[in-house]
Amino acid sequence: MKPHILQLNPILVPSINTRLDALYTMHRLYEQSDPDATLREHGGAIRGVITGGHTGIKRALLERLPALEIVAVNGVGTDAVDLDYARARKLPVTGTFGALTEDVADLAIALLLATCRNVCAVDRFVRSGAWLRHPQPSAIPLARRFSGMRVGIVGLGRVGRAVATRVAAFGCPVSYTDLALMPDAAWTYVADLRQLARDSDALVVCAAADKAEGIIDAAVLDALGPQGFLVNVARGRLVREADLVQALREKRIAGAGLDVFVDEPNVPPVLFELDNVTLQAHRASATVETRTAMAEMVLASLAQALAGERPAHSLTT
Ligand code: 8YV
Repeated sequence: MKPHILQLNPILVPSINTRLDALYTMHRLYEQSDPDATLREHGGAIRGVITGGHTGIKRALLERLPALEIVAVNGVGTDAVDLDYARARKLPVTGTFGALTEDVADLAIALLLATCRNVCAVDRFVRSGAWLRHPQPSAIPLARRFSGMRVGIVGLGRVGRAVATRVAAFGCPVSYTDLALMPDAAWTYVADLRQLARDSDALVVCAAADKAEGIIDAAVLDALGPQGFLVNVARGRLVREADLVQALREKRIAGAGLDVFVDEPNVPPVLFELDNVTLQAHRASATVETRTAMAEMVLASLAQALAGERPAHSLTT
């Protein structure tokens, strides 16, 4: 009999879904009209869960899966999984560590450039025909140069380091903050986040959200100041969104490039009105290459756990 797997988020790579279907009896909860009925009927048989980094899995759902042998997170953020509970149950929780680093860093660069150079606002200007109506160069305000900006990285993990390497190629001096100085990193360590903001023209949020929440608040944004830009490719809740919206509206910072939000897909509508903001839909890892590599890691982790081995990328066992 094929093992039963509960999947909480779609995987957008058809060949991976074919393999999942060949190996397992798949229960794709997001496709069910009555998810609760699916859980009542199959919860006792489920041996593996596949979920997204942002979705994670609630403890209440884990408690309904007594035969569970693995939670395979199709992502690197494990902040939405109760790791202590998983440890207590000796349940491996795996991630796709290393698979999405380059793409997330690439999107951070795209957001930095797009926001500083008003790429999306000018695209809208051209598409709407406004250029024809307002051909004078003064119709579009001058943008800001990104090359050479002082960039502050918030969280020097894999993604933070990949962003630092990339911005260094743009001639940007790099500083970072983290829980402690990283002796192997050549960039400047600044222990205090407000000081880092004060010293930076652009802050890039790359931190894990397991322990931190709301660290980018009004005080940090004011330290970044009216010439400063914020980019977030980590988790929405690392930023106090109300403070950010207010700072953007009042032009207390120059602009923001955001891939993540507190309550996705709900984006504060006021941001739609602001031309100094570049918005994405949690897309940083959403390339064919990365999503395929991530899904391969999910498949490998499932196979290892269901064979009774410790999955190589387990955080909890
Ligand atoms: C993933 C994420 O792409 O890795 C994470 O933690 O939030 C995302 O970038 C997402 O989990 C895909 O399912």
